[in-house]
Amino acid sequence: MKKGKMFFMLLLFALFSLSEIIAQDKINTITVNVSEGKYTINRNIYGHFAEHLGRCIYDGIWVGTESSIPNIQGYRKDVLEALKELEIPVLRWPGGCFADTYHWKDGIGPKQNRPTIENKFWGGTIEDNSFGTHEFLDLCEMLNTQPYLAVNVGSGSPQEAKDWIEYVTSDGNTPMANLRRKNGREKPWKVKFWGIGNENWGCGGNMTASYYADLFLRFSTYSWVDTKVATGGLPDDYDWTETIMKKTERKQNLIGGISFHHYTVTHTWADKGSALDFIKDEWFKTISKNFGMESMLKKHLAIMDKYDPENKISMFADEWGNWHNVEPGTNPGFLYHQNTIRDAVSAAIYLNIFNNSCYRVKMANIAQTVNVLQAMVLTNDKFLVKTPTFYVFKMYKKHFDALMLPTEVISEKYLNGTEEIPSLSASASQNKDGEINITLANVTADNDLQTSINLNGLEDFEIINSEIITADKINSHNDFNKKEEVSIKGFNSVDKDGNNLIVSIPSKSIVSISLKIK
Ligand code: AHR
Repeated sequence: MKKGKMFFMLLLFALFSLSEIIAQDKINTITVNVSEGKYTINRNIYGHFAEHLGRCIYDGIWVGTESSIPNIQGYRKDVLEALKELEIPVLRWPGGCFADTYHWKDGIGPKQNRPTIENKFWGGTIEDNSFGTHEFLDLCEMLNTQPYLAVNVGSGSPQEAKDWIEYVTSDGNTPMANLRRKNGREKPWKVKFWGIGNENWGCGGNMTASYYADLFLRFSTYSWVDTKVATGGLPDDYDWTETIMKKTERKQNLIGGISFHHYTVTHTWADKGSALDFIKDEWFKTISKNFGMESMLKKHLAIMDKYDPENKISMFADEWGNWHNVEPGTNPGFLYHQNTIRDAVSAAIYLNIFNNSCYRVKMANIAQTVNVLQAMVLTNDKFLVKTPTFYVFKMYKKHFDALMLPTEVISEKYLNGTEEIPSLSASASQNKDGEINITLANVTADNDLQTSINLNGLEDFEIINSEIITADKINSHNDFNKKEEVSIKGFNSVDKDGNNLIVSIPSKSIVSISLKIK
């Protein structure tokens, strides 16, 4: 080949490669609009949920003082320590479906006098009620957590709910406050959040939206508490939300929030798919359904915006997470399953969506805290495992009560057959010290990516910290009797380029980057 022609070919090749690089750069771009923050990320978005279900309360949180498992006044010591690390801001209890079967008076007074009950919804377990109102509210004090109680609407009465509220919150010379004093607690507890039932379209009484809305108003009238939360419908039941908003329109003083429940099942409710034994196609399906939550949430929020333009009524996503088949050999009613790096990526997607919707989403509660569904910790006899999801919650604490900075994510398509979803998920915030925290996830099973992060509106900054949660295999997880596989590690593939960051983020990873403004 002649020299001139060769030079021309090389030039063409170089230009082509350069344009490829530029195109690639453009494909993955996260823009953080630093000067456009308007809304605070309420720390309660990092809330949790603990139900009388399987081994969440009994055996998970509560073992009783006589147990050989190390405990503090009956609470598992290792669980308390792990949960303290997360600084759980709010904890929802006693259910779930259990709430609409629970009669709170069964769980107070001397333990030997408390009746046993059958937990009909969850495995038919016989419970001795040794964990009741005092035990739960004391736990919240130990964890420095706000309690969020759900009253029994389905099989209870407004009187029962009113009495419970008086028992817990009254400082007066009232019958219920005196009963509480007799049971050893002089001062009332502070409980701001009260759920009026749970999933009353289903396990909470199979009600229609209209019937429930009337009941909600009735219960709410006699519930003298700060924030009363109405049950939401199925995740895609927009009529339910519309009905609640319409029926409470002239009584907005009686409603503080509506709840939203969203679970991701990879396949069907009958056969959800395994928590541990899955292939890349199933990874994709799970992640795709996680992203799918956002459009549902937005439709509910749009309805709320219409009836409540002043934004007085909040959205509480008070049950969310991945729901897989139970581990083989375990009680199907106990909903115990493992938790992998896939669940960690899912949690990052959910939390990024909640952060970005924080103008009205003021609380979210992952289901559930211990040994149930997408748990933070798993226990087995004397042993405890912190799940990959635990580490996501630990990493995301940086967003607590920080100003949400709107982000725009442009990313490569993540393809599976004809289906496509984004490859990246992100959110960002600025804390009270001015520090900017960006959390992002490469949600793909096997595509390492490079992304630029444009700090729009920022002159100069320095990177003060960056961390990663990642794994080798799509089902990497932490288990009893083996070295921890998934946790938070230092991360150094972040470079500064003017007011951009260039991040090389491996597949199946969650990264957090902290910046200080210069
Ligand atoms: O979290 C498990 C169950 O899921 C809850 O009890 C119920 O509210 C939901 O259907």
